[in-house]
Amino acid sequence: MTNRSELPTTRDEAVRRDADDPLRALSAHFDLPTGIIYLDGNSLGPPPRRAIDRLTHVAGVEWAGGLIKSWNDANWINLPKTCGAKVARLIGAAADDVIVADSVSANIFKLAGALWRRYGGAVGFEAGEFPTDSYVLQGLSDLSGAPLRQLPSGADPFAGDVKVFVKSAVDYKTAAIADISHIEKKAQAANGAVIWDLSHATGVVDLDLARDGALYAVGCGYKFLNGGPGAPAFVYAVGELAQSLRQPLSGWMGHAAPFAFDQQYAPAVGVSRFACGTPPILSLSALDAALDVFDGARMAQLETKARTLGDMFLSRVRSAGLETISPDVGERRGGHVSLRYEHGYEVVQALIARGVIGDFRAPDIMRFGFSPAYLSYADVWDGADALLSILQTEEWRKPEFAVRRSVT
Ligand SMILES: Cc1ncc(COP(=O)(O)O)c(C=O)c1O
Repeated sequence: MTNRSELPTTRDEAVRRDADDPLRALSAHFDLPTGIIYLDGNSLGPPPRRAIDRLTHVAGVEWAGGLIKSWNDANWINLPKTCGAKVARLIGAAADDVIVADSVSANIFKLAGALWRRYGGAVGFEAGEFPTDSYVLQGLSDLSGAPLRQLPSGADPFAGDVKVFVKSAVDYKTAAIADISHIEKKAQAANGAVIWDLSHATGVVDLDLARDGALYAVGCGYKFLNGGPGAPAFVYAVGELAQSLRQPLSGWMGHAAPFAFDQQYAPAVGVSRFACGTPPILSLSALDAALDVFDGARMAQLETKARTLGDMFLSRVRSAGLETISPDVGERRGGHVSLRYEHGYEVVQALIARGVIGDFRAPDIMRFGFSPAYLSYADVWDGADALLSILQTEEWRKPEFAVRRSVT
């Protein structure tokens, strides 16, 4: 944990901290536009150079040149698994227990459907959970008749009839980190199951699902993994348990032998059964290449740097008197911080106009992400300066900053 006295207190100190940063080399993988301070890698990571190179190669050589032969020759057909093995390393899972496929929303449906079949009871989520998680459970409940429960935040999820519970490991608004091991113990004592949504955790939090007893999870590829807009997501299910699950989107890519063209569905081994349709090879290839940025990186170091950047940002902007809804300086937190401000939307637009990109979550939350792979302490120092200046000068009051755009 960072102690406030260890945080840079001048820009020069921030620059010196950059010089000593053991993760400094990682930033060489990225070409961020000049003049941009990117505090939104928790929403959409920027492209690692190797992801762009790989896209060019896959499109120009494997697709244009190899045509359909590339399913075999370029091993496209196994990419969901090989890419899954790279994700597994980052979350503390066995290589065979992760497959990359579809979106987080679709994966929650597949996993929750499979688990409800197995564990029964009600399906549940906490108030304040990321909306798609609850929407998908509503859809599953409508279709299957599974009772649906919205639980108060922080309640024991298994105290009632819930047997399948979906929970974010890092809260999308506050960045609070859940106690995975504690909740898993409750689930297992109640003969229930948790689906961990690792969307805001993968690539920035030092996860160890095996150590913490987590059995099922999903997560996304486009945030801290930098896999590209709409990058495919992943499913994790411990092999021997996955083996007895039947997932409801039983498409041919999750079949034991897709090219046998049997009329009858027979699930593939383990987590591979969570594949459904033809994998999106272009986006999967970009994600696969982006994951190599993490080769040899220690997740504990990444988590610490992200938190220290967040601590420094919070300490600097404290004088503006904004309400912090994230765990405070010195507390464990994921890779972003959130500040509440009535005119947060306008302030974020004014920041973007100055080249400091964060995002806004209705009704009044400004979110700033601190991806440790490419951000420097000096960047974050300057980003905090911009925020303070916009608040002080009330630059955000310019009418153009009030225009609401579709994506916030
Ligand atoms: C916690 C969480 N879950 C799920 C999603 C959405 O996932 P997808 O769009 O891949 O379905 C997001 C998107 O930001 C998220 O933050």
